[in-house]
Amino acid sequence: METIQVGSEQIESSRFRWITFSSPEAVVDDGQDVIQGLSQTQKTLPCRYFYDDRGSELFEQITDLPEYYPTRTEQAILEKYAVEIAQLTGGCELVELGSGSSRKTRLLLEAYNQLNHQLHYCPIDVSAGILKATAIALLRQYPRLKLSGLAGTYQQALAQLPPTELENRMLIFLGSTLGNLNDEECNTFLTQIQQALQPGEFFLLGVDLQKAIAVIEAAYNDAQGVTAEFNLNILRHLNHRFQGNFALDQFAHHAFYNPVEHQIEMHLRSLKRQTVVLKTLDYQVVLDTGETIRTEISRKFHLPTLIDSLKTHALQPLHIWTDPQGWFGLLLCQRQCTSGECP
Ligand code: SAH
Ligand code: AVI
Repeated sequence: METIQVGSEQIESSRFRWITFSSPEAVVDDGQDVIQGLSQTQKTLPCRYFYDDRGSELFEQITDLPEYYPTRTEQAILEKYAVEIAQLTGGCELVELGSGSSRKTRLLLEAYNQLNHQLHYCPIDVSAGILKATAIALLRQYPRLKLSGLAGTYQQALAQLPPTELENRMLIFLGSTLGNLNDEECNTFLTQIQQALQPGEFFLLGVDLQKAIAVIEAAYNDAQGVTAEFNLNILRHLNHRFQGNFALDQFAHHAFYNPVEHQIEMHLRSLKRQTVVLKTLDYQVVLDTGETIRTEISRKFHLPTLIDSLKTHALQPLHIWTDPQGWFGLLLCQRQCTSGECP
């Protein structure tokens, strides 16, 4: 039996595949998206830059905060319905976008395991450190598991998904990470999901729903300041990545609900007039006192509108589960045939 060393363990080589798309840091890394964002009137940064090792660690801390309800609400839904999901889909490869620690996905793996389905899991994440550590832990925990880890962006992964060995596949996008995409990005993303799936295959989507503004704002302004540290980490990451000189103590976390767009906006407010240089990008930018950089939007969804948009992308919701307060939605969709696609 051929084995490979994974972490401190020997794992059968047929159970594990590691796919990176470019450099060891594994993402398209020319920084043009950073320059583009910082050159707008409302300066922005792509939120994927939150997630280096430290950012992933801070996000994990956020998920345990008393104010941050999304993770535990979605987890409770999955605890209740994971077996039903596995029964509905039957055996299939699980491909997860933005998998992070795969904490909630374990509930699905448990369910497929319990029903004796083959366990094939393909976690995809831009944060290579947490992806690798999670892959090793899962391979240890599930001796029947075959795992292909993909370090890269959603776009890279969806364009080049390796063919599945199983008959069916389910793409998984949990945590309301869809809410971090604006309307245009969301449409492009759903088109990529539509193209990546064969008719009959599945898409499992977790989304945060509209609710009292005070509840939402508290979730992004926690008392311990972990979200503030997570927000500032984007600057630390950019400093490291592009030899930047953002002074973290010269920016302040600011998060508020925009009721017109139905989204939380996270910003970093400049505490003085300052010039920031990103050396390897050969780029500098001036920030005025009080000027903000928007680092993230987190949209809160209206289910009927979302369902319409999914249907437009040939993704038919088969089942929708929510929690008793109706705070979070989990949608199991099936890829439909579009005209000319099926006999
Ligand atoms: N799915 C997990 C983690 C959500 S946090 C949960 O529900 O708790 C968002 C995750 O997506 C992080 O692990 C982050 O590294 C990853 N991510 C963010 N932007 C990404 C992108 N453009 N492409 C791939 N992964 C991305
Ligand atoms: C990953 N994403 C869905 C989280 C969210 O709630 O939008 C990221 C986050 N930002 C601040 N807290 C958590």
